[in-house]
Formats: sequence, structure tokens, C-alpha cells
Amino acid sequence: MAILGISAHYHDSAAALVKDGVPVCAVQEERLSRRKNDAAFPLNAIEWCLDRAGVRPEELEAVVFYEKPMLKFERILTMALRGFPRSWGSFPRAMRSALGGKLWVKGMIASDLGVPSDRILFTEHHQAHAAAAFFASPARRAAILTADGVGEWATLSLGRGSIEDDGSASIELFRELRFPHSLGMLYSTFTAYLGFPVNEGEHKVMGLASYGKPAFEEQVRRMVPRTADGAFALDLSYFEFQEGARRSFSDRLVAELGPARDPWDPIDLSTAEGARYADVASSVQRVLEEILVDLARSLQRETGLQDLCFGGGVALNGCANARILSESGFRNLYVPCAPGDSGCALGAALYADRLHFRRAHRALPDHPYWGPEIDAGELVRLAREDGLELQESPREGDLIARTVEELAAGRIVGWMQGCAELGPRALGNRSILAAPHEAAMRDTLNRSIKYREEFRPFAPAVPIEHAERFFELPEGGARLGRFMSGVFPVRPEWRERLAAVTHVDGTARVQTVERAMAPRFHALLEAYGARTNLPILLNTSFNLAGEPIVNRAAEGYSTFRRSGVDVLVAENVLVRKRRQASSEQAVE
Ligand SMILES: [Fe+2]
Repeated sequence: MAILGISAHYHDSAAALVKDGVPVCAVQEERLSRRKNDAAFPLNAIEWCLDRAGVRPEELEAVVFYEKPMLKFERILTMALRGFPRSWGSFPRAMRSALGGKLWVKGMIASDLGVPSDRILFTEHHQAHAAAAFFASPARRAAILTADGVGEWATLSLGRGSIEDDGSASIELFRELRFPHSLGMLYSTFTAYLGFPVNEGEHKVMGLASYGKPAFEEQVRRMVPRTADGAFALDLSYFEFQEGARRSFSDRLVAELGPARDPWDPIDLSTAEGARYADVASSVQRVLEEILVDLARSLQRETGLQDLCFGGGVALNGCANARILSESGFRNLYVPCAPGDSGCALGAALYADRLHFRRAHRALPDHPYWGPEIDAGELVRLAREDGLELQESPREGDLIARTVEELAAGRIVGWMQGCAELGPRALGNRSILAAPHEAAMRDTLNRSIKYREEFRPFAPAVPIEHAERFFELPEGGARLGRFMSGVFPVRPEWRERLAAVTHVDGTARVQTVERAMAPRFHALLEAYGARTNLPILLNTSFNLAGEPIVNRAAEGYSTFRRSGVDVLVAENVLVRKRRQASSEQAVE
């Protein structure tokens, strides 16, 4: 019984295949099409999923789309009419950009895949987010919170999920906030105001926030007044996104906060203007955190449950996640590896399996590695053609020992193993790894690989057994770090030795690595610890600025050739770019 889940036409299209209740594979379209945040109908991803699972389209029990197109159409039309005549000019543009081909999605799936239309199902968008968060967690009973920009109408939902002893599952979303009242849109509006690209630059706002003080907290609070039930409603006089305008904020917002930043102006934090941008970021981050903590706290009181599953793009905010975990009263917070829309492909398929076909729940393998496998032979062929030095290590221990020596000598390693991660984070299978000790390493990576000026340093990966020694983790923090979903303080005594991965405010977005989830990555971290006394590596996604994370060995090789990556590893094959001078200093 195979079910195909699809998300498409907004950003981050993806496909996922669930067979007999368990995911077989899932991949974002961008990894295959090589167009970052590809929003096209994910034909490449669908084809790969079917091929990988050995399923023909006509054998699919159902194809499930991650939202209801007619409801979304209704929302766009309603908002346009509400803003008439001011919004009328923007309506065709809103239709094109927000809706794309979605209305015709049933016909598209039927004709592209040859699946009869009675086998094409739709979930509501937040049902897909909720299912992705709840069914991927180990919890049998949990509260559910979802928050994003917008789906059809819902922008935030509160509910609960349960799995009974006989495996029957339920998800009840008992409260929702509706567009235009949206935490995702609030944060995106500030992302645009601060001159970063919406849907991509949100993490820069979070990083910038730590450099500032919440000096505009009161102004931002006035833009998001709280309602009697503990939720919030945006004061729409500060916003224009709801009218499909080209600019998402109004003149009134500019009057309160000062001029918006031009995307082309560099941010210089030593100037008053730069400090103001950081203060604005800090203020909106503070308000977002407070609202989420309050909503989570009241959900905990209402349900009396210990576990919270959090989905939707807002769940990528690791600072907010850490506060929810520490302050809301929940003991565990589960954020899936792909809380955003790409994960909805998997969520939609799981929702259909458990709740439409009412099949018994089966526990999901607890890892993020659902994408294509690496073919090391491809790297061998390419490296030989170019006459590069190449080592094959049939024994894993030899490969790890060699890689550790390279890392300890201060070299940057492109590390490709097994199946690619689903979601925006590289978690050890398509990663760039480096020594975490010196701030200079962070600068080298930004300059020679990422080609960016970032406000957050890179993330550390640590075996879960050692995490507490280096990081201040609340109860449940190690679990939240599984998919790099929380930002936690680095213990003060280690901050200097972990300069490349410690943020200006002393925190880090730590990945806690369990042996069972990523045995080879775990072994590498342990071996690096044995060599340097610090079992921690800098882990950043293996891609250049503006490109999707590498998928195949050939893409890793191309990135390696075009950037400052010194060493490339695919499975058990290690390639060096050039002979390193023997005088380079090892890490002590
Ligand atoms: Fe979403």
C-alpha cells in the first residue's frame, strides 16, 4: 500500500513515499533540479521516489497534496475583495505568485502521473504540518502547535494527537488563527523590512537579533496586540502584505521604527543605523518568543500533556524553540527535521495513511536521511579524470583516522555519506566539517566557501553523550538538538575553545549526534575528540551561497573544485585538492 505525498507551488516543493505506513523516501525538488527553493511541481522528486520505492504510478493507493487549493483560492479572492479597489490591481499578481498552478493540481497529478482522479486526496495545510510533527515524534500522546506564514486560511493551530494501543491515531486541531493574523507573516514582514529575502532570510533576523537590544519592543507589541484568549491579532494598519501589495509593511510601521534597510546596504553594527537594525530584529524576536511561549504554556495547561510537537516554518526558529522548551511547562519539544513546507509532503502522506485510510500507526525510523544515496564510484571516476590524489579505505576506521588528521590540521572537509537529509539542515550526510576552535575558521568558511557575511556563526555537532559537558541544555534539550532545532548557551569555560561555533551572545545551534542515528558521523566526532580532547566539529551545509545542498557525489565534487573545501569524502573515498604543505600546524 503506497501513498505519495506532494508539496508544491509555494516554495520548497517536495515528494515523499510512504509504504505500509512507513516512509521509504522523501526529497525536495531543489536537490534534484538544482534550483534553490524550487517551487515547481516536483516531477523530479516524484519520479525519484517512485523509482526508489519500486512503485509504478498506477500502483499508488493515493496521491496526497499538502493543502486544499480551493480554500486557498477563496482566501486570496476574499482578501482582494476586502481591499477593493486598492488591492484590485495586485490581484492577478497575487493569483500568479501565491496560487500558481495549484487550482489545477488535480488535473496536473492525474495527467502527469496517470493516477485516476478519485485517488487524489488533499489535506489541509496545517493538518499536514501537524502530521509531520506528531507522527515523526516518538510520542504516543502529545500537544500539537503549528505556525507558519499561511496555508489556506490557518496560520497557527493548536491541538493534540494520540495513538491508542491498537495503533489507531487521531489528530485534533481544536483552535486556529486565520490569515492575516500570522506569526510567520509578522516575522517575514520584518525580514523584508530589514532588507533580507523573505522565506530565506528569516534566520538572519534571528542571528542579527543577538547583536541588539529589544529597544523597539513596545512598538512591536503595539503591532501585535494580544487578545483576551491569550492569542494575538496583527494591527493591520502596520502591514500591507494582506492586500497583496508589493511592500509588506506600511508607512505607519516605518514611522514607528525608522526607514527600512535597503537590501544592498551592508549592515555595519558600529554605526547607529546598523545598531537600530539589530535592535529592531531583537525586538521582533523577543515578541515572537513571548507569544509562542504563552501559547505553548496555555496549551500545556489545557492538555496536561508532557510532550509538544511543533511544526510549520516558525519551528525553524531555534531561539524561540529553546524558550518554549524551558518556559512552557512541556518536558519534551519535538520539531521534525523538515518542519517547513517540504516536510508537508511526508506529513500529507502520513495523514492520509493514519486518518483517511485509518491504518494502524507504525513507529517511524527516527532520522532525517530520506533522500538519495551517495555513489562514491562517481567521485572516483571524476577525481581520476582530473588526476587528483585519491584514497579508498575499505576499513571505516582508516577513513575516519585520515579524516580526523585532515580536520586536526585545520583543513575543511566536504563530507558525504549515505542518504541525503530531508529539510533545510545538513546533519552529517551532506555537510562541510571543520575544526570548531578558532574564529579564523569561521571567517575562512564565510570567505572561501559560503561567500557570505553571516550574523550567526556555524553550528557545532557533538556526540549526545558529551553534549552536557559543553552546552547548557535544559531537560529535553539534547533531544531538541537531534535535528539542530534549538539554540543553547555554550558553557562559559568552553566559549573561547569553540570560537568558530559560538555566537556573540554565547549560544550555539548545537546538533546532538546519536550513534544509532548516524553511526559513522558519531564515530568521526569521537575520533576527533580522542585526537584533540574536544569531540566537537563545526557542521555547516555542503553548498555554496545561492545553491541547494549537494545531492550527488558529482555535485559535491563540483563544489569542492569551485570553493575552499580542501578534502572531499564520499562514503569510503577521500580526495585531496592538493598536497598540503607539511608545515601546517596541527590543532593542539
Ligand atoms: Fe506551511
